[in-house]
Amino acid sequence: MSAQKDDQKPQPQLHLREIPGDYGLPLFGPIKDRLDFFYNQGRDNFFISRIQKLQSTVFRTNMPPGPFIASNPNVVALLDAKSFPVLLDNSKVEKRDVFLGTYKPSTTFTGGYRVCSYLDPSEPDHAALKYWFLSQLSVRKDRVIPLFRNHLADLFLKLEDQVVKNGKADFNDLNDQMSFNFIFELFCDRHPSDTTLKTKGPKFVTLWLLPQLTPQITFGLPKFLNLVEDFFLHTVPFPALLVKPFYNKLYNVFWDSASLALDEAERLGIARDKACHNLVFLVCFNAYGGMKVLFPALLKWVGIAGQTLHRQLRNEIRTVVNEAGGKVTLSTLEKMTLTKSVVYEALRIEPPVPFQYGKAKKDMIVHSHDAAFMIKEGEMMFGYQTIAEKDPKVFDNPDEFVGDRFVGEGEKLLTYVWWSNGWETESPTVEDKQCAGKDLVVLMNRILLVEFFLRYDTFIIDVGTFLLGPKVTFKTLIKMLSID
Ligand code: HEM
Repeated sequence: MSAQKDDQKPQPQLHLREIPGDYGLPLFGPIKDRLDFFYNQGRDNFFISRIQKLQSTVFRTNMPPGPFIASNPNVVALLDAKSFPVLLDNSKVEKRDVFLGTYKPSTTFTGGYRVCSYLDPSEPDHAALKYWFLSQLSVRKDRVIPLFRNHLADLFLKLEDQVVKNGKADFNDLNDQMSFNFIFELFCDRHPSDTTLKTKGPKFVTLWLLPQLTPQITFGLPKFLNLVEDFFLHTVPFPALLVKPFYNKLYNVFWDSASLALDEAERLGIARDKACHNLVFLVCFNAYGGMKVLFPALLKWVGIAGQTLHRQLRNEIRTVVNEAGGKVTLSTLEKMTLTKSVVYEALRIEPPVPFQYGKAKKDMIVHSHDAAFMIKEGEMMFGYQTIAEKDPKVFDNPDEFVGDRFVGEGEKLLTYVWWSNGWETESPTVEDKQCAGKDLVVLMNRILLVEFFLRYDTFIIDVGTFLLGPKVTFKTLIKMLSID
């Protein structure tokens, strides 16, 4: 059991404080908070300004979307490293239908099923489905490194080509195609171009994903369009039927291609169509949706860190790979201490899925660093990792990207890294809600750095934002010259 779980025991030295903040007038309060969140203050300032005003990292607020998509937008926000981990403790929080927060898209998006991500571990289907996912990942684990390296090789060729031809290359676009091709091939045992999808997978997935996510998205349009955008994106659910044709195309291709995985699901007692809808969600939402943000975020922070870190990374990577006779294996990757730390630091400073929700299963006391708060059974708790993982009481220079933060003694800090909806020091099980792809995600990020710095010495990028993540444009890509 980790230190955080022990922290949830009563700590008499902290005084019980009433949870500050309020929800405002019905209807008006949630709409005002929504406009503050998206337009007046922006995501981070929304929380930071409330922490400062209320002098507390635990407070009441509304979370978007609110009316008329979510019936109850009231949450208790937990924004420090001490209170946040209660959200990871399944004995204390219920995770039924809270995958996207205070609203849940219609099951029409997922073939009429509530797929695994929406199930609480107490629901029997959760264990069956998660066991199936974990076993599929385990069966395919030896294929990950060679397959991902192949797909990356393809991506880098295109990236170089665009930089040479156009003086710049849009990484996100190339990343979308590469990520979809890789994850589809991993689970379905064939390249999407050998199916009727050809290169249209990412497009169909985006058309299906976007309406499920619009309640938490802004397109960053000019100010005078804010209210119009708010009305269309955040007030009424998008009708799932409009994107059903795209979903059906994806579903049919999975049905035809993923025979091995689906046979195994049936052997485990999961109905074939239920398994297939869950697999589409796993590959297209959990995995592809995550990879859309994951890799641009890693390259963004490594890019911003600049030449010194690039030199250190390429030296470590080339030396270790040379010593291993040119092979990239799990044990080679394990020896790259700086590379590993850089991956964790990127996941800490910009967690790809930063919001977590959970309903209190019973009355409980939750502690911040300086007070204790009574949370009542049924209240919705909400955590924002981006702020909780920058807790100055835990991390030195929390807002800075420190590449070697998790090297040596620093490894102990991994217990405060929760991008996977669990402790980085623990592994997902069928009894919890930790990301089933946790090890795969960390591995892919390590391989990305290795493949990159085996080819290139350094690079320069432009960084922007796009919907829920960073936008990375390559301006310069310097090919490998030598080990310095
Ligand atoms: C690529 C980056 C990824 C990120 C950032 C990510 C993050 C997360 C997070 C935060 C959750 C918990 C959501 C919640 O309940 O609050 C989750 C759940 C899940 N993830 Fe991932 N994930 C990623 C990739 C993957 C991959 C590659 C797979 C599998 C191939 C995967 C499979 C799952 C599954 C099955 C769940 C639901 C777990 C459960 O219901 O117990 N994810 N992921």
